[in-house]
Amino acid sequence: MVKKNSCVFISGTGTNLKTLIKNSKNYNFPINVSIVISNNKKAKGLNFSKMHKIDFLILNLNNRLEQEKALLELKKRKIFLICLAGYMKILPKFFIKSFKGKIINIHPSLLPKYKGLNTFSRVLKSKDKFSGCTVHYVNEKLDSGKIILQKKVEISNKENEQSLKIKIQQKEYKAYSEAIIKILSNF
Ligand code: GRF
Repeated sequence: MVKKNSCVFISGTGTNLKTLIKNSKNYNFPINVSIVISNNKKAKGLNFSKMHKIDFLILNLNNRLEQEKALLELKKRKIFLICLAGYMKILPKFFIKSFKGKIINIHPSLLPKYKGLNTFSRVLKSKDKFSGCTVHYVNEKLDSGKIILQKKVEISNKENEQSLKIKIQQKEYKAYSEAIIKILSNF
């Protein structure tokens, strides 16, 4: 299969990145991870790129020179898809415009519910019976782009933030790759 190049943006642990790298090794998976970009030089997830010899860059996209560096790199590598995976910064508007329809994100709630941070504590406070994760396109409004795919989990009455996080993240790993397959099946 001819794979399209992708770039994964991270800020922290990078377990979604880890799964994307693992799945990209599968012949039938439609993308490869060409480069990882992190705003945080201490992000644990960078270890996964090092381990798999995937190039990475530490960039602050609020800085003009670093923005240009990112744009050049993405062009040079013919990046088809940008996957935000625990990227904790807001992307500059011009950047979102330049890659319209090519940036996706994974969010730990059933959007449009619980946009933003601290989703697990808010879900538990609300006494919802279900939560889950959403893969969506990124537009200029936070967690508001078109939904590509969602996966649900049931919330037990013994649930706490940590157990809910684990439950949802297990779904995220599947959801992200399924969403990518769904997107690429249209090309
Ligand atoms: C995920 O739960 C994702 O939903 C959110 O940030 C978390 C990143 O986790 N956007 P990891 O860095 O992939 O382990």
